[in-house]
Amino acid sequence: MKVEYKCPSNIALVKYWGKKPEGIQLPANPSISFNLKDLYAQTSVEIIHGNVSGQPSFTFTYENNKRPSFEPKIAAFLNKIWDRYSLVREFSIHINTSNNFPHGTGIASSAAGFGALALCLARLQEQVTSILFKDFWQEASNIARLGSGSACRSMYSKPAIWGAHPTGFGNDEYAVPMNSALHDSFENMMDAVLIVDGGEKAVSSSAGHNLLKNNPYAPARFSVANQNLISVLDALEKGQFSKLIHIVESEALQLHAMMMVSNPYYILMRPNTLAIIEKVWKYRQERQIPVMFTLDAGANVHLIFQNQYHSDVMNLIQDELLVYTEKGQYLCSAIGGSPEEVKN
Ligand code: PMV
Repeated sequence: MKVEYKCPSNIALVKYWGKKPEGIQLPANPSISFNLKDLYAQTSVEIIHGNVSGQPSFTFTYENNKRPSFEPKIAAFLNKIWDRYSLVREFSIHINTSNNFPHGTGIASSAAGFGALALCLARLQEQVTSILFKDFWQEASNIARLGSGSACRSMYSKPAIWGAHPTGFGNDEYAVPMNSALHDSFENMMDAVLIVDGGEKAVSSSAGHNLLKNNPYAPARFSVANQNLISVLDALEKGQFSKLIHIVESEALQLHAMMMVSNPYYILMRPNTLAIIEKVWKYRQERQIPVMFTLDAGANVHLIFQNQYHSDVMNLIQDELLVYTEKGQYLCSAIGGSPEEVKN
């Protein structure tokens, strides 16, 4: 028995940064993201034989080659779903995965990777038990969260919200698609990811989340994120581009500000990250073209814009920004898209 899924990566508009002290992998504040249709992981999970070892039994390959460095994270993930997935208790599985974007680009591949793995496992669990989950996508999102928090938001083509908002919507255990209609002006959006540094991050995301625990600035950050989510939703519904730009850029800078006020403090932006941000601000002011930047927990810069400005933004990248990238690398993706099962 074998199942295969493609799952897109995503980019957060309001960032998840910090976990609740209680529970497993629950976010300290709600976040919202766009899927990145053209940057995806493709993963297959195959049942190999029975498992009587009393612990998860798996083999893992990346593009059909062994990758021992990935194994501890996968083992930890399978342990987390041990009680709820008879599939993991009863069978030994083989996982093979690949990304459609190159290595060494520093792109957050864990969202796509754990998203795809969660989808395969949820589908296989349905097949071995012949019991369908009440809401398959919700279930896949719920377990994807246990592998990598941001992965739970990759299940929907609409902007996805993960985390309970104090006013009562959203859920800490799984992501949900935005429930109102997305304004037409956000239907054809693009993301160009400028690769400033493709190397390993000096501080991992899980270490970064942990550093918010005793951070005196964290409560203020969580409260601002709650407000920003409401404003982003409003902007997405009403088509308010300038409001969206303002919040998205502020969120990116707040994420990095939290790193700088952590103990120990650290900086993941590079000088070229700042150079790109300043060029984007200058360009927006001079050309009045609504292109916004955001950042993940790394030095790379995402430029988000409407497809109608595609050639303008490509010219901006070619003429002014490529010099700040590592080896002239950037990746482009349409925004949106949902996971797809690959039928062999
Ligand atoms: O999913 P994690 O644990 O790798 O956390 C990623 C958090 C950010 O990418 C920095 C922000 C987000 O909401 O995606």
